[in-house]
Amino acid sequence: MTGWKPWVTIKAPWLFHFNSHRGNLMAFLFLRGRGELRKEIPDMAISKKVKNALNGASWVRRMFEEGEELKRLYGEENIFDFSLGNPNLEPPASLKKALKALADCPIPGMHRYMPNCGYSDTRQAIAEYLKEESGLPFDEKHVVMTVGAAGGLNIVLKAILDEGEEVIVPSPYFMEFKFYIENCGGKIRLVETHDDFSLNLKEIEKAIGAKTKAILINSPNNPTGVVYDQASLEKLGELLKKKSQELGKTLFLLTDEAYRRIVFDHIQLPIAFRNYPHTIRVTSHSKDLSLPGERIGYVAVSPLCEDVEEMIAAIIFANRTLGFVNAPALMQRLVAPLQRNSVNVREYEEKRDLFYNSLTSFGYEVVKPQGAFYLFPKAPIEDEVAFVKELQSKRILTVPGRGFGKPGYFRIAYAVDRKVIEGSLPGFKEVAEKFGAGKR
Ligand SMILES: Cc1ncc(COP(=O)(O)O)c(C=O)c1O
Repeated sequence: MTGWKPWVTIKAPWLFHFNSHRGNLMAFLFLRGRGELRKEIPDMAISKKVKNALNGASWVRRMFEEGEELKRLYGEENIFDFSLGNPNLEPPASLKKALKALADCPIPGMHRYMPNCGYSDTRQAIAEYLKEESGLPFDEKHVVMTVGAAGGLNIVLKAILDEGEEVIVPSPYFMEFKFYIENCGGKIRLVETHDDFSLNLKEIEKAIGAKTKAILINSPNNPTGVVYDQASLEKLGELLKKKSQELGKTLFLLTDEAYRRIVFDHIQLPIAFRNYPHTIRVTSHSKDLSLPGERIGYVAVSPLCEDVEEMIAAIIFANRTLGFVNAPALMQRLVAPLQRNSVNVREYEEKRDLFYNSLTSFGYEVVKPQGAFYLFPKAPIEDEVAFVKELQSKRILTVPGRGFGKPGYFRIAYAVDRKVIEGSLPGFKEVAEKFGAGKR
């Protein structure tokens, strides 16, 4: 118990004597800013690695938790919370109907253990969809059902990584990737994207070396909403072929496609399976069917992948031994017939339009996203943490770009009701005017 510190330290209680709403908010932000309201992690018997990770807590989680506190103080309706990418749309009505039907007429044994890769029927339905989409000879053995995309990423990384091997990740990026890679003994190697957040193939080429095992791309992207186009995926495929040959080993392309069906402007998302044989797709129904709490996703290994059967066996082994065992049984049954369905993506597109048009009219510099439900504008001042704090004073919650490896920017997650976006716009405008947005 050496070095124990209280969980909450408040060094300036006088600040709580403010009795107006604004006073409370300013006191809260002041203390937060000085780290005096931060929950500290006492010295305990936990691993140093985890302790470090906890002390550097995720910015998304931090902002989300601050938001929860602000909501308690001011009421939920008075906070404009864009911190967490938590889909606000309901799952398709057909899913709820099927859930009710299953509950009313249960299938004998439907709650039992199953093969670690998941139900054959579900994997077959997904394989048919993949075959049609890619033109490749997918069948059920190429599909492993997973506990969301997060579970899928962990088991794929576990299956491929030896201690110290590197995974290249274009930045800005979804920060959890770092932890997933480190969970499996690997090292993340970040590579900057271009200013428009497209893939920088020259930088990727420079980063590939003897320790490289894979590149992990995410399109549509969290945090930028950017979609990698066909040409860049073709070039990436060529580069990976060339480098695999030069290094005398196979490099893998891992594609996180958690937002695959959330695309706008009638674009067709390129199919990476067609551009590189050693491709493994990880995805889920968290976003397209609005089921993040149900933890259902899958991994699909290209039928053209080297040693495909061994690879799949390794992924199934990792699913079992990392303790996932198998993906949730009920959800596997429910998503099988919904492979061509999704929530109404146009609703996200309309919100993108409203937000993007408003922010750019206030002077913010924003790359127009073509998918997912995020905007990643440039902060009008270099210190985006200070900027995000200023937005908080208008009760707007966003996440500093450094939480995604890109200081100077901030992320807005707009999977929220339209009225939340509308309510926040005057605050965004005031802060833009204060800092002269667009002049940096
Ligand atoms: C890029 C990316 N990958 C993976 C995940 C995890 O998805 P899931 O909830 O299906 O595990 C998320 C969740 O926000 C994400 O943004």
